Order: sequence, then C-alpha cells, then structure tokens
Amino acid sequence: MPIESSSAFTRTAASPQTQPPAAVPGPIISAQRLGKVYGSGKVRVEALREVSFDVDPGEFVAIVGPSGSGKSTLFYILGGLTSATSGSLFIEGRDFSQLNDAQRTRLRRSHIGFVFQRFNLLPTISARSNVELAHEIAATGKPFDEQRFNHLCDLLKIKGRIEHRPSELSGGEQQRVAIARALITRPAILLADEPTGNLDSQNSEAVLSMLHSSSREMNQTVLMITHNPEAAQIADRILYMRDGQVLKIEPGKGRICREA
Ligand SMILES: Nc1ncnc2c1ncn2[C@@H]1O[C@H](COP(=O)(O)OP(=O)(O)OP(=O)(O)O)[C@@H](O)[C@H]1O
Ligand SMILES: [Mg+2]
Repeated sequence: MPIESSSAFTRTAASPQTQPPAAVPGPIISAQRLGKVYGSGKVRVEALREVSFDVDPGEFVAIVGPSGSGKSTLFYILGGLTSATSGSLFIEGRDFSQLNDAQRTRLRRSHIGFVFQRFNLLPTISARSNVELAHEIAATGKPFDEQRFNHLCDLLKIKGRIEHRPSELSGGEQQRVAIARALITRPAILLADEPTGNLDSQNSEAVLSMLHSSSREMNQTVLMITHNPEAAQIADRILYMRDGQVLKIEPGKGRICREA
C-alpha cells in the first residue's frame, strides 16, 4: 500500500552565508511503488515491495528497520547506484529510469552525497585525498573549499588523522572521513547509511547535529538509515521498514533526543 508523505513541517530559511540548492517545486525525491528482486528461483529475494513515499526539499528523514528489511537496498536505488526491478523514482522531478547512464551519473555526482555503511574509502590514498577526489568527481566547477574542509575536520575531530590512509584509521575515524567526503560538495541530497554506526555517543551526537544543521541551514535533504531509535528522533519524519515494505511513516522530533 503506497504511503503518501505529509508536508506539514516548517523549515528554517537558509542562512544568507550559505548557498542552498535551487528551490525545486514539489518533492525532491518521489518513490513510487519501488520493488527490488535479487536473484531468481531458489535464491530469489524480494528485498523491496511497493515502497512509496515523497521527500520534500530540506527535509530530514530517518529510515529504521530490522537487519535485512531492505534499508540499504532502498539507499542504493535512491542514489541511482542500482535499478529498481519495478516502480518509479523521481529525483527533482526527473524520472531516473528515463535517464541514460551518463545522465544518471551526472545527476548523482552533482546532487547526491553518500555515506556508505561500509565507508567505501579508497584504500591507497590518504583521508584528505579521498575528500578532495569527491570534490573533483562532483565537477562543481568551484575550487576546493579549504575553509569548509577545515571546518568539517574540526567538527568531525579528524584533523590530526587526515594525512593517513584508511587502513591506518579506526572504524569510527574512517566513518567520519566518509562523512566529510559526502558533505564537502554540499550535495542537495545526502544519503547516509548508518552514519553513526561505529561512533561513540559523543562523536555520534556531533555527527547528528552536523547533519541536522546541514539540513536546516543549507536546505539539504537528508535521508539517514539508522538502527538507533534515539538518533532517528532527530529527523522530521521516521520511515519504518519491515520485510521490504514501508510499515509506517511517523513524525520525528526534529532534534537530538537523549531519552529513549
Ligand atoms: N546483492 C544481493 N543479492 C542477493 N540478495 C541481496 C543482495 N543485497 C541484499 N540482499 C538481500 O536483500 C535483503 C535486504 O538487504 P539490505 O542490505 O537492503 O538490508 P538492510 O535493511 O540494509 O540490513 P542491515 O540493517 O543488516 O544493513 C536481505 O535479505 C539481503 O540478504
Ligand atoms: Mg544495510
């Protein structure tokens, strides 16, 4: 059963110092009856079934659900990294399935930032080079923003480790580098798969408040997968998944919430 979004959330206006992505009329993401089947015969897995929801520009949505419920599969489809088996996906009003590979890649690189569940940092180059490379690939035409980079490194507490390669970093440090990499380009949409999964409570809170302020100040749309019900409360809305389906969508508190 498709579940429609409600737009009943007011958003803080973008601060004058920042450059928010261009205003998009209507939802920035519209998922319509998305289905995903992996394999066939005995190994057939129906990972997503009729998943429908809309996300407004600047909205912060948390996606929660048990392991295997299809969260990462949804993340890959929303980011155009894999195709749905059925249904439609509109990003900024454009039908993803109607774009050719080059167009889809361009849209992804310029508009979407990813924090992967397994980080996906390039192992042979330093943390700094990983972030710089993301900026290059996004091809924004703007010079690398050293000030923003330093600001992100400060907030994420990775300044002293930035010249190290990923294998020389702890899991939590790699995760924070992956977050800096995703945010350096100021993407219109940030997809984050368990961004606090490897972090202690202090770093976790720093990352959550950074995502929250990105969403509020830059009108950035954030979709965050999390196992942590407290972390989910930072979102405007929480989308609950089970067995590849959207079980329900509820309002979040829109702020960091320490109590369960
Ligand atoms: N490449 C694949 N081939 C076959 N089955 C897959 C593949 N990727 C995922 N699946 C299956 O699809 C289902 C959904 O997987 P998915 O990774 O989306 O779950 P998840 O909600 O992200 O879980 P977790 O919380 O453990 O990360 C699972 O049953 C999984 O085994
Ligand atoms: Mg997952």
